[in-house]
Amino acid sequence: MVGESRIDPWSSQQSTDYTRIRDNFGLSEVEISKIPNPNQLHRRGIVFAHRDFDVILDSIHRGDNFGVLTGLMPSGKMHLGHSMVIEQVKWFQDHGGDITVTVADLESLATRGVSLEEGRRIALSEYIHNYAALGLDPEKTNVYFQSMRPDVQRLGFMLGKKTNLSEFEAIYGFSGDTNLAHVQAPLIQAGDILHPQLDEYGGLRPIVVPVGVDQDPHIRLTRGLAGKTNWFNLKERKSGGLIIGLSIQDENKIQMGVSESGGVNRQVRSSIFEKLKLSLSKLGFADILANPKHGTIELPGATFGDKSRIKISLLSLEREMGGMGLMPPCSTYHRFAVGMTGDKMSSSKPETTIFMSDTIEQMSKKVKRAYSGGQATIEEHRRLGGDLSKDVAYQYLQFFFEESDSELSSIGRDYESGRLLAGEIKQICIDKASDWLTDLSEKRDQWSDRIDDFISPDSR
Ligand code: TRP
Repeated sequence: MVGESRIDPWSSQQSTDYTRIRDNFGLSEVEISKIPNPNQLHRRGIVFAHRDFDVILDSIHRGDNFGVLTGLMPSGKMHLGHSMVIEQVKWFQDHGGDITVTVADLESLATRGVSLEEGRRIALSEYIHNYAALGLDPEKTNVYFQSMRPDVQRLGFMLGKKTNLSEFEAIYGFSGDTNLAHVQAPLIQAGDILHPQLDEYGGLRPIVVPVGVDQDPHIRLTRGLAGKTNWFNLKERKSGGLIIGLSIQDENKIQMGVSESGGVNRQVRSSIFEKLKLSLSKLGFADILANPKHGTIELPGATFGDKSRIKISLLSLEREMGGMGLMPPCSTYHRFAVGMTGDKMSSSKPETTIFMSDTIEQMSKKVKRAYSGGQATIEEHRRLGGDLSKDVAYQYLQFFFEESDSELSSIGRDYESGRLLAGEIKQICIDKASDWLTDLSEKRDQWSDRIDDFISPDSR
């Protein structure tokens, strides 16, 4: 259990104690030195945590296939906060990932009361249009609607067998009066996240989900559900190496060599073990200790780094035997930029953020009014300097608008030393944001009549 801390993905509140979140929920720390060609968000520590990101880095390193899944809730307008995930998706795209985009129209219906038609309109005109302008490549991107992909709904439904209301209560704080459509939304989202691995959608490969840390409850749920469907468990062995165990379930009893009476069918069991040994020796392992009676295989020589290769080979064996063979998703987490007023960014409070469609005038007005880390008077500011940790203009340069690290740190130094005044750093932010918004709007124009290129045939 995680003590009293819980993240509510639908809440308008947000904790910003990122170290605590990382520790409480067992997220791993991102090691920037392991990331090839790190982007702005990586370099500045904004992507701060992950689960199994190493598996993806390994795929990139080896040139193996991997997929990226992201999703959007079509409600309100797209703002700067939403663009952070797309920056990351673009980085994965540039490093060989195929992209699937979920339009969570069912979730929006369930949790925001947005009709499916309205959801579709918002998704295309607000979100996908901007995704195109931000640089997603239609050749490598596949957008679908939850309401139009029965495979996702079916998978979500099946995964429901592996959880119960108590778990949903613990993860999401649901209670007796929670709307049942709302209860279904996380299961559908688990279906979203896992379905790109199905044979019809690209087949078995690691899938990474870049999200804001508020979405981690869904990732945790999905990883747990995938693990519970697996026919083979892979764990660290106490005395070193790895150990594989059979996971006997109602769904796989027969294939696993367990008879109706509960006895072990030796013939079936030993043929499973022959297959297991064959796949492991193909991976190059020679020291394989099989114990068919206990249903375990030990690999004393395997290391932690072998885990994902072994996992994938076990999952493909599971698939051959008739199982789903689902790999738990990998994820990365980003911090949130502060809202312009000092609170959380929110579509429903236009003064807290910059929308992708804001005019230069609207943006300038918001930056001028934004929360500042400057001192009360010029004299004090020159003497004490500005506070970067509170200054919205600085943070927006850091998160979004200033690409150059050296330029950013020189602005930061000048501001902290009092050389640069609050009004001046705001003006720098306005100038940079103007270029950014103008560029985006030009790119949007270029994509206006080609949005359909992104939409999967089943969702047109
Ligand atoms: N729940 C997400 C949101 O609130 C939307 C979403 C649905 C999603 N399915 C997803 C996000 C899969 C990432 C992965 O915005």
